Amino acid sequence: MERTLVLVKPDGVQRGMVGEIISRLERRGIKLVALKMMLVDQALAHRHYGEHEGKPFFQGLVDFITSSPLVAMIWEADDVVEIVRGTMGQTNPKNAAPGTIRGDLGVNIGRNLVHGSDSPESAQREVALFFKEGEILDYNRNNDPWIT
Ligand code: PPS
Repeated sequence: MERTLVLVKPDGVQRGMVGEIISRLERRGIKLVALKMMLVDQALAHRHYGEHEGKPFFQGLVDFITSSPLVAMIWEADDVVEIVRGTMGQTNPKNAAPGTIRGDLGVNIGRNLVHGSDSPESAQREVALFFKEGEILDYNRNNDPWIT
């Protein structure tokens, strides 16, 4: 079963969109297996966004993600990376389709509300950065036979 890391970024928390975003993901039928609110420090921000070091937006992105608490989650399903990316919409809310999180709730690329891993390989790396194995729960849902 594939896993992905989702962050409700500081703008999502500040704007009171945590419930809205979780609700949209829950309604897809994917399974929430870990969740916590946290403040990201500089070291974690640099490790998380390390591949973008050197890009013009890098420092702004690090400053933003460390500026205020975020909500980190792990979601699980077959092909969950692709499912979550589709539900989030394009990186730049300006280009995100209506019906997606960014297309409905966002306007600025630097304040795009949510992060989702961009590949199963990134997901494995990011899940391990944000969560210890003991924080990820294995449980049965009653509605699974009605979804899969
Ligand atoms: S890239 O250059 O294609 O690799 O970038 P991308 O994968 O689309 O985005 C990587 C993360 O950087 C954020 N981003 C930006 N933030 C602020 N300003 C600008 N111009 C900008 N461009 C990209 C983007 O939201 C991605 O963050 P996450 O948290 O992964 O969504």
